[in-house]
Order: sequence, then C-alpha cells, then structure tokens
Amino acid sequence: MQKVLVPFDGSPSAKRAIQYLVNFSKEYPQLTVHVLNVQPGPKLYGNYVSATMLDQLNAGAEDHAKEIVAEAAAELKAAGIVCETHTAVGEVTSALVEAVTRHGCDTVVMGTRGMGSLGNLVMGSVATRVVHDSPVPVLLVK
Ligand SMILES: Nc1ncnc2c1ncn2[C@@H]1O[C@H](COP(=O)(O)OP(=O)(O)OP(=O)(O)O)[C@@H](O)[C@H]1O
Ligand SMILES: [Mg+2]
Repeated sequence: MQKVLVPFDGSPSAKRAIQYLVNFSKEYPQLTVHVLNVQPGPKLYGNYVSATMLDQLNAGAEDHAKEIVAEAAAELKAAGIVCETHTAVGEVTSALVEAVTRHGCDTVVMGTRGMGSLGNLVMGSVATRVVHDSPVPVLLVK
C-alpha cells in the first residue's frame, strides 16, 4: 500500500478512513494519498436548462467538492502525508474507479457508509459498487 485512492464524501466513515491512513503512515511514511470527491451531475428535467445555467450548476458542484476534499487534505498534510486532491462531477462510481487507474493507485481506502440515510444497510451503494468494479484491493473502514 503505497499509492492510495481515498473516495471522500466528508462522512464520519470516510473521515475514519483518513484517520486510518494517518495512523498507517506512522509506520509507512512513504505513503502517497489521492483524495477524490465526486458530485453527481445535476438531474435535468426536459430542455429548460440553458448551457450557461448548466455551466453554473457544474461550477457550483465543483466548488462544493473542493471544500469537501480540502478537509481531508488538511488532516493528511498535518500528519506529513504527501497528498493530492481531485474533484469530479458525474457518475460517482465510474469516476472513482477510473481514478484508480489514472493516478496509478495500488489500493482504495474508503468508508463502508457515507452521507446516505439508509442506516440498516451494512454497506452503502458506492462502497458496494467500488468493491465490485475496482481493479485493485479495497480496504473498507467502518
Ligand atoms: N460522492 C462521493 N465521492 C467520493 N467518495 C464517496 C462519495 N460517496 C461515497 N463515497 C465513499 O464511499 C463510502 C461509502 O459511502 P456510500 O455512499 O456507499 O454509503 P451511504 O451514503 O451510507 O449509502 P448510499 O449512498 O447508498 O445511500 C464513503 O465513506 C466514502 O468513502
Ligand atoms: Mg452515499
């Protein structure tokens, strides 16, 4: 585990994934972490949204994603871990899986649960789909 992708949504579970890496880096300081937040693309009904409005919606989503990853990066940098932040707008799982290859990550470290409210599930849908589709091992932090 040297180059890690952390899909981060700001949830308590994702924060524990960051904390896990902070602890892990004490023994393996050569760790590099890529943090990615993906905002789902806007749901559009009919043709009522102009290109300009769509650009504004996407820009707002990017700004929100940047705020989320900045929080994780601050924790990692405070622990002296080399990290890069990334944001995307679109289909969440495919953007996460694509990022594994793009950044050459050897492991994904993520939470089992996220910001969703279905408290009775063992694991959220993003975690389930990343486990299914990831080309590299996935470490899930409860
Ligand atoms: N939009 C996202 N961008 C980046 N990482 C995410 C995103 N959503 C979830 N994750 C990652 O996936 C983990 C599990 O969250 P997931 O969304 O699967 O659970 P949930 O929100 O409880 O359930 P669901 O989304 O199915 O209602 C999070 O801890 C985080 O690591
Ligand atoms: Mg979720």
